[in-house]
Amino acid sequence: MVKALIIYGSLTGNTEEIAEIIAEELESRDVPVTIYEAMDADPEDLLDFDIVLIGTYTYGNDAEIPDEMLDYYDAIPDMDLSGKAFGTFGSGDDFYPKFATAVDDFEEQFIKAGAARVGDNCKINMAPDEPEDIQALKLYANQLADYFQN
Ligand SMILES: Cc1cc2nc3c(=O)[nH]c(=O)nc-3n(C[C@H](O)[C@H](O)[C@H](O)COP(=O)(O)O)c2cc1C
Repeated sequence: MVKALIIYGSLTGNTEEIAEIIAEELESRDVPVTIYEAMDADPEDLLDFDIVLIGTYTYGNDAEIPDEMLDYYDAIPDMDLSGKAFGTFGSGDDFYPKFATAVDDFEEQFIKAGAARVGDNCKINMAPDEPEDIQALKLYANQLADYFQN
């Protein structure tokens, strides 16, 4: 059975909320989801799942990868994640010129690891509280579920 792992970093809870919406939608498609905060998991955990997602906010002076996400950022390109579908998502603030770019940075790392990109990554402005945010997140989760179910 196809199963999914979501690992996320979230300082003020927005990326966590996004993770929960994606998880709920995957589970509604009968994809069991394991969900960890970044500090509670390791990059190697990605090897045990079919659908692997990383959620991250973007921070710092120059749209940096959060500290707690760096182990994943460094490890993923050296892993063999072929045969898996990956997803990347996260919250940013569109006030900043580099909006949620840590999400794009993780997408590049997964591509280097040979995982399959599905749909467009999900960048949400602050909390996922607009109807179109929810719609985009549900669509993304369904595209990931479809990858193995079709
Ligand atoms: C010092 C600082 C720097 C930030 N830099 C960026 C940035 O470069 N790009 C961006 O999109 N958001 C930036 N943000 C906004 C956060 O990514 C945003 O608040 C996000 O919702 C936090 O997600 P979280 O609730 O999951 O921690 C920054 C926030 C702070 C406080």
